[in-house]
Amino acid sequence: MSTASARSVAPAKGKLGVLCVGLGAVASTFIAGVENVRRGRARPHGSLTQLATIRLGKRTEERAPLIKDFVPLAELNDLVFGAWDPLPDNCYQSALHCGVLDKHEHVEPIKDYLQTIVPMPAVFDQYYVKRLEGTNVKPGKSKRAWMEALRQDLRDFKKKNGCDRLVIVWCASTEIFIAPGPQHQTLAAFDKAIDANDPAIAPSMLYAYAAILEGVPFANGAPNLACDVPALEQLAREKGVAIGGKDFKTGQTMIKTVLAPMFKARMLGVAGWYSTNILGNRDGEVLDDPESFKTKEESKLGVLEYILQPKLYPELYGNIFHKVRINYYPPRGDNKEGWDNIDIFGWLGYPMQIKVDFLCRDSILAAPLVLDLALFFDLAQRAKMSGIQEWLSFYFKSPQTAPGLYPEHDLFIQLTKLKNTLRWLMGEEQVTHLGVEYYPYGEK
Ligand SMILES: NC(=O)c1ccc[n+]([C@@H]2O[C@H](COP(=O)([O-])OP(=O)(O)OC[C@H]3O[C@@H](n4cnc5c(N)ncnc54)[C@H](O)[C@@H]3O)[C@@H](O)[C@H]2O)c1
Repeated sequence: MSTASARSVAPAKGKLGVLCVGLGAVASTFIAGVENVRRGRARPHGSLTQLATIRLGKRTEERAPLIKDFVPLAELNDLVFGAWDPLPDNCYQSALHCGVLDKHEHVEPIKDYLQTIVPMPAVFDQYYVKRLEGTNVKPGKSKRAWMEALRQDLRDFKKKNGCDRLVIVWCASTEIFIAPGPQHQTLAAFDKAIDANDPAIAPSMLYAYAAILEGVPFANGAPNLACDVPALEQLAREKGVAIGGKDFKTGQTMIKTVLAPMFKARMLGVAGWYSTNILGNRDGEVLDDPESFKTKEESKLGVLEYILQPKLYPELYGNIFHKVRINYYPPRGDNKEGWDNIDIFGWLGYPMQIKVDFLCRDSILAAPLVLDLALFFDLAQRAKMSGIQEWLSFYFKSPQTAPGLYPEHDLFIQLTKLKNTLRWLMGEEQVTHLGVEYYPYGEK
């Protein structure tokens, strides 16, 4: 039985507008996927909010409702979709172009619906994504005017579609690497940099800024900074807006964050980890540019360091050779192949090897994450959980955390964190997995 008190969460009434920055492979697969599910034509595999259960109380109580029956989430039928993209293709054209979903099975039958989702002109500057040329872009060059135009888009979309609430998920291309600088530290410096059209202020930051000012939660699915700067974190807290990122945790990194904790749990050493990918979609093309790849590389490389804690275990993990490569290879389209070669060592230092060959589909892995993030960020907003949503680090390669906190990368710690946060929200006991209460020695 629960003894804790529940947090008050506003009901999920009315429509929730889900706005994707970028209407490429991930966003079109997400939107078309939700519409297929709504029409009973497919199942939402890969989505925790739609399929997962949550254990409540003791194991003997056998209480395990669906997450969506336990916490008040928006219903799929209440979602309204919108997007911005510098390419003018509507969602139908984009889904066909990206070629992730089967044309006859999942695109043509919902053509009329997908055609209605037309991207709004984007805030776009080729300086930040070298391999793209945009025509559907907001005019001018003023970062302040662009940001104000995004705010107006949010108000217009909400009004036009009769939405009660909005949420934004960044599903746009990875921008060039930008290190956090003095321009990002305080709101005053950030505002000054916007007015000076400083290159350190990327379009993703303008979307995030506009979202926070309009009270719209913002989740970042790419590795570029966007809302991951002190100025915007502070603003989000002040304005009571949920933010978080970065970079959807899908293929190779998801596997890494499952295997690495296993090695550490068993005190097996790691000598080297070589990861390489071939990928032929537009994301692969964008990441073929060294400046965009650097942003991705930082995000992918970080996880091992945090999970394996080489400072605590120098003899096991102090000398790892870790390499990550992404190679653009058009014939594969969205069907990425990710290889991992892992050199480990065990008892008395004897070497062993593990090879992983993951023939995955990038956007098929990412689409359910977009859905869960949209629904959970909306939940967080209604629960007045402002600022960084670390409990959603389950979904990210580089989870944003409070200043001074290192992120948790282990997928199963992240899952426990997520579910315990839901229990905390609803006033249920935390599940600690202690378990002595089932044995005589645990009786009080
Ligand atoms: N699919 C995955 O498994 C996965 C995992 C982690 C991260 N991601 C990230 O998600 C993002 C989307 O991936 P994708 O495969 O859909 O790529 P994509 O290239 O198919 O789509 C990205 C879209 O964003 C648009 N865009 C670029 N700059 C924009 C801007 N300033 N405003 C609005 N739109 C803009 C592009 O025109 C394009 O249509 C990428 O950054 C990718 O790195 C994907």
